[in-house]
Amino acid sequence: MPTEARRAFAAAHALARHALSWCAPRIDPSEWRLSARNPHGRPEVSAPRLDADIRVNLSHTDGMVAVVATLTDACGIDIERRADSAMVSRVAHRVLSATELATMRDLDPAARTDQFCRLWTLKEATTKALGTGLRTPFDTIAFDFDDDRNARRADNDPSWSMRSWPASPEHHVSVAVHAPKVDFVVHSLSEELRARNP
Ligand SMILES: CC(C)(COP(=O)(O)OP(=O)(O)OC[C@H]1O[C@@H](n2cnc3c(N)ncnc32)[C@H](O)[C@@H]1OP(=O)(O)O)[C@@H](O)C(=O)NCCC(=O)NCCS
Repeated sequence: MPTEARRAFAAAHALARHALSWCAPRIDPSEWRLSARNPHGRPEVSAPRLDADIRVNLSHTDGMVAVVATLTDACGIDIERRADSAMVSRVAHRVLSATELATMRDLDPAARTDQFCRLWTLKEATTKALGTGLRTPFDTIAFDFDDDRNARRADNDPSWSMRSWPASPEHHVSVAVHAPKVDFVVHSLSEELRARNP
């Protein structure tokens, strides 16, 4: 594995342990074991055993890692470096639903790219929460937006909660939790570190 990928893997897995301990503060981050994987590669918490069905998911990309943890519900996260407009033109028709494609048609190039990143990361976060990843065809799950951050399934399935926002000027992140009306608590380590070392 290249050095950069190894560092991202280590950072994401360390952050995952801290996120789990934030949900279950009695457990030290070093105690968590994420060695088990579902048949499609999703890491599962294998130890310690708790009464709650604690879940975690992680994502790493060039320059950023992101993690989501919940005490009860399936969750998925995806962080991506912003796509360029040539890539969007190449891929959009293969992964977006007809309605999603239609909403992109009248946007200027920068707004199209933003919209594509929101939709792509939402699709990946949702299929990671399902545990199937890229095995689920992305054009079969579609999204709509209530505002800048809050998304929902286009079929109005109320059993999902979703958030999507720019994690930096170059990165976009989305989170999906298979539960209605989730209260998201977001921590940004880079902002916390910047505040401690101005
Ligand atoms: C999961 C997947 C969407 C990741 O895409 P990506 O954008 O390249 O990578 P991300 O950084 O966002 O996510 C990677 C992390 O997702 C997690 N992950 C892997 N497979 C997963 C799955 N099926 N569901 C949820 N999370 C998964 C892992 O933690 C992985 O990081 P790690 O290997 O360092 O622990 C993609 O790799 C995939 O679909 N894999 C499934 C392929 C499959 O079905 N394989 C079957 C083998 S028989």
